[in-house]
Amino acid sequence: MSIIYNEKEKIFHLKTPETSYVIGIYEGKLPMHLYYGKRLDSSFSFKDLFEANGDNGWGQGSMSADFENKIQLSGVPIECPSMGDGDVRPAMFQAKYEDGSILSKLWYTGHKIYKGKPEIPGLPATYVESDDEADTLELYLEDSFQDIKVVLYYTAFSKMDVITRSMRVINGNKGVVRLTAALSGCLDFNNKNYDLMHFYGAWARERYMERKPLFIGNQSVESLLGASGHHQNPFICLAEHGATEDRGRVYGVNLVYSGNFVSGAYVDPYHRTRLYIGINPTNFEWKLECGEEFFTPECVFVYSDEGIGKMSRTFHRLIRDRLARGKFRGEERPILINNWEATTFDFDEEKIVSIAKKAADVGVDMMVLDDGWFGVRNDDTTSLGDWFVNRDKLPNGLDGLAKRVNDMGMKFGLWLEPEMVSPESKLYKEHPDWCLHVQGRSRGLARSQLILDYSRKDVRDYIIKVLSDIFDNANIEYIKWDMNRNMGEIGSMLLPADRQGETAHRYMLGLYSVLEEIKKKYPDMLMEGCSAGGGRFDMGMFHYFDQFWTSDESEAMARIQIQNGTSYCYPTITMGAHVSKVPNGVGRVTSMELRGYVSLAGQFGYELDLNQLNDADIEEVKRQIALCKQYRKVFNNGDMYRIMSPENTSFMAWQFISEDKETVIVELFTMKALRYPPAEIIRLKDLESSSLYRDKETGREYSGEFLMNVGFSREPNVEYGCEMLILEKV
Ligand code: DGJ
Repeated sequence: MSIIYNEKEKIFHLKTPETSYVIGIYEGKLPMHLYYGKRLDSSFSFKDLFEANGDNGWGQGSMSADFENKIQLSGVPIECPSMGDGDVRPAMFQAKYEDGSILSKLWYTGHKIYKGKPEIPGLPATYVESDDEADTLELYLEDSFQDIKVVLYYTAFSKMDVITRSMRVINGNKGVVRLTAALSGCLDFNNKNYDLMHFYGAWARERYMERKPLFIGNQSVESLLGASGHHQNPFICLAEHGATEDRGRVYGVNLVYSGNFVSGAYVDPYHRTRLYIGINPTNFEWKLECGEEFFTPECVFVYSDEGIGKMSRTFHRLIRDRLARGKFRGEERPILINNWEATTFDFDEEKIVSIAKKAADVGVDMMVLDDGWFGVRNDDTTSLGDWFVNRDKLPNGLDGLAKRVNDMGMKFGLWLEPEMVSPESKLYKEHPDWCLHVQGRSRGLARSQLILDYSRKDVRDYIIKVLSDIFDNANIEYIKWDMNRNMGEIGSMLLPADRQGETAHRYMLGLYSVLEEIKKKYPDMLMEGCSAGGGRFDMGMFHYFDQFWTSDESEAMARIQIQNGTSYCYPTITMGAHVSKVPNGVGRVTSMELRGYVSLAGQFGYELDLNQLNDADIEEVKRQIALCKQYRKVFNNGDMYRIMSPENTSFMAWQFISEDKETVIVELFTMKALRYPPAEIIRLKDLESSSLYRDKETGREYSGEFLMNVGFSREPNVEYGCEMLILEKV
């Protein structure tokens, strides 16, 4: 068992291979957070920690009469802080009761420990394949005055340093309860010696890392876009001041959810820090009738005492092995070519066939037809919702085109945007109420479109039927599921006035149920997610989508930074990365080689018309495809190390080691071209000291200890230069 209960001391000790998480039940009532960090022996006594009473003085809150005025709830570390009981820090649980009060007091009533990990009804979650892979603790809390029960779920993985948490709220019989906050987890620290790392961005500039020391007060990232969004990602870390890729204590936390979220850290004037994460309480209210229950999404904690890199690699393994599901989990994916950047809406069957033909000649595995194949969609102003083929463009239909592509020995994939409707569409004319909107108010457009109300069953049933008709009538082996606008005026016509605050979350539950159904019905279809590039890159999505389009910025130099930022939590196997033409969006011209190396560090593919390339570039394309086929397992299934970054050097360098540790690949990108550059040393990581590694190109052999300690020197003197080093263990 990796969860131990010490009955005498009322202490729960959750253990993963290298971490411990300790909870104590103070005075038999209050679940206190006692420790999370490096693994400890179970014999350790935590009694002393109970004695800290959190007394902040009379100006800062009251002593708790529920504990004979011995402690101040505002100052002690709490596992499930609730609103109104004197703790003035962000609460995990907040409700309004029929008597008008907002006060909740959640006291421990019992627990259960068992092997395995339960599912969360209707929500994506990490999972185990056998009960030996994890232990779960359920802590039962109750507010008997309001007849509310809460179950806190904790799972400790036995082979990964991962702890997950979620919460279930059950309303008893006293009356209607309005949940106004139901977060997934929190973590209290008795100091503030950390930097908050988070990942922000915009369209074509996703997941730039920002790192700032914690300050006194509340600091959070969040979304109210109805999606995790481009602006901020739910994933945040607390890294000890000075922590690097290899050194220092780091806590990472992410949410397995794709809707409105908040991830934050609150530091009180006594330098105590509360990390918290969950559904954003702003614009959220959930009505619980007597006997009803609510499940929060799951949050995931990862602790590393060996720096940021190790934390990233734990998230990578978890997402790749125990969040992703289905036939393609951990498997090699087809190399694809997508016509979007080559043609946008301006194509017909012959043009697509000619792109596919050239791609087939050089060894590409799949042709993906992007936006514009349906309705009368010749630009982005019409036809979303009218999922029938435009015969002017595709006279032989999708099945005819798919057949021609298949006859070239390639698979066929298709773009869809099933959550949307254009006001200029038959669907909208027939069902103007099927979109999210507020009765009697105007309906704001983004990219000329509205969002279908997936909280409605009739809408969901319709979409499943329409998609099934498409998938059943052509050989479609891949879909790219796009989503190009966020929520604005949020309302649902089928929900009563007092449930309108549930719309955004009900939408997400509806979307998950549609994705689940499609995934079950079409298990052999590879599913790529997309949201105006990488606007919905979150752990919720990776329970359904095998990969995700990382960004609409496919210019290689800009892409390096986006993929690097994304890699702090998400593995390369999830990152769609395609070689595109130059100059594109930002006007920069880079070599075909550089573009290839950036894309190889993701889910490799092309986003151009290969017919337009010169002979030398076509030769390079053939070399890239061969490299991808030979080494994609190393790039996508091995371990990734960010070994150099342009904040400290002139380079960005990534190292990949295959699962069997036999192959090591280093990719080096010159980010700053200087006339008289400083010398830079590239040292590899986590090799076997005494093993020998042979450089595939030169045949020279190096010991692991040499590569890790002496390293190579490089001069960053080539503008936008790049280099790939492939080393095989001898
Ligand atoms: C946004 C996506 O990110 C692009 O790759 C492309 O599919 C367009 N949508 C199509 O409208």
